[in-house]
Amino acid sequence: MKVLVTGGTGVIGKFLLPLLLENKHEVVALTRSVTKAAQLEDSGVSAIIVDPLDKPRLTAAVRRAEPEVIIHQLSALSGVGNFRKVDQEFALTNRFRTEVTDTLLAAARTIGTRRFIAQSYCGWPYARKGGPVKTEEDPLDPKPPESFTKTLTAIRYLEGKVSSATFLEVLALRYGIFYGPGTAIGKGGATVKMVKKRRFPIIGGGGGVWSFIHLLDAARATVAAISRGAPGIYNIVDDEPAKVASWLPALAKAVDAKPPYRIPYWVGEIVIGKAGMPIMTQVRGGSNAKAKRELNWTPVYPSWRIGFVDGLD
Ligand SMILES: NC(=O)c1ccc[n+]([C@@H]2O[C@H](COP(=O)([O-])OP(=O)(O)OC[C@H]3O[C@@H](n4cnc5c(N)ncnc54)[C@H](OP(=O)(O)O)[C@@H]3O)[C@@H](O)[C@H]2O)c1
Repeated sequence: MKVLVTGGTGVIGKFLLPLLLENKHEVVALTRSVTKAAQLEDSGVSAIIVDPLDKPRLTAAVRRAEPEVIIHQLSALSGVGNFRKVDQEFALTNRFRTEVTDTLLAAARTIGTRRFIAQSYCGWPYARKGGPVKTEEDPLDPKPPESFTKTLTAIRYLEGKVSSATFLEVLALRYGIFYGPGTAIGKGGATVKMVKKRRFPIIGGGGGVWSFIHLLDAARATVAAISRGAPGIYNIVDDEPAKVASWLPALAKAVDAKPPYRIPYWVGEIVIGKAGMPIMTQVRGGSNAKAKRELNWTPVYPSWRIGFVDGLD
């Protein structure tokens, strides 16, 4: 099948593009960079040089490629991590999730693209009440921390396309927290560095539940979504949502760091700000039952327990 990928040069793209080629898809990837375009071409991917925020040129690129499937993986999240400034740090990614999605869909409509697969997120967007593990049916947070508001609005907008874009099939893949090469939780990544310096403490009991996904498994689920699964929303996460108090010491051990410090809630508020506290103490994880059932996918790394040891580089 002819598949067009945005964000193919980002962290998930490094796993996704080779897997698409391996599965005999014809792959077209967009990039702004001449150098990256040459690298893509060398690997067997057709590259189109275009700035995704340039609406007329993006539209022309998609029309020219005539893909049967579009996989929208654009995010610009290198260096993010200040919970007080999430909306500022996500501003460009939010434009990718709204404006660029609209441009891609409008172009897709004119060429009869069959399926649109978009990157969404599983974790803090879920409402922070009820059980610790959420399904796709569970509500999103009606009142996220103020600094997360615009980012959640962009996620809702993107996911709204699942039901509103009726001329093609839309699947929104809510990936868990990425780990693996090139990510913050990869060899030399920002989170790993903080853990090694013991600057990533367990705050206030560490009750926030995080769902992780190795990049390889995120890419495998995405390839599965090209041909399987009804239009809809899918959590793409591993089998073991876990409290910060569980996974953080395991990550420290896996990267040969000393155990994380434990600090009380009120100190945490000073260190990471009020907006970050729900992430450390209240957020919910996601269930992957629907993705397993409908995409016929199972993770190679069923748990971060294995992945943090074997899958960081
Ligand atoms: N679920 C998750 O946990 C999740 C999801 C996404 C990202 N992240 C994390 O965020 C970090 C960065 O990953 P990333 O993939 O977002 O890498 P990135 O290097 O921030 O950006 C990736 C893509 O965005 C494009 N891009 C970047 N800035 C752009 C701009 N100003 N205008 C247009 N396009 C732009 C780049 O395309 P060009 O080829 O044009 O340069 C590139 O393909 C990693 O640690 C990753 O794990 C996590």
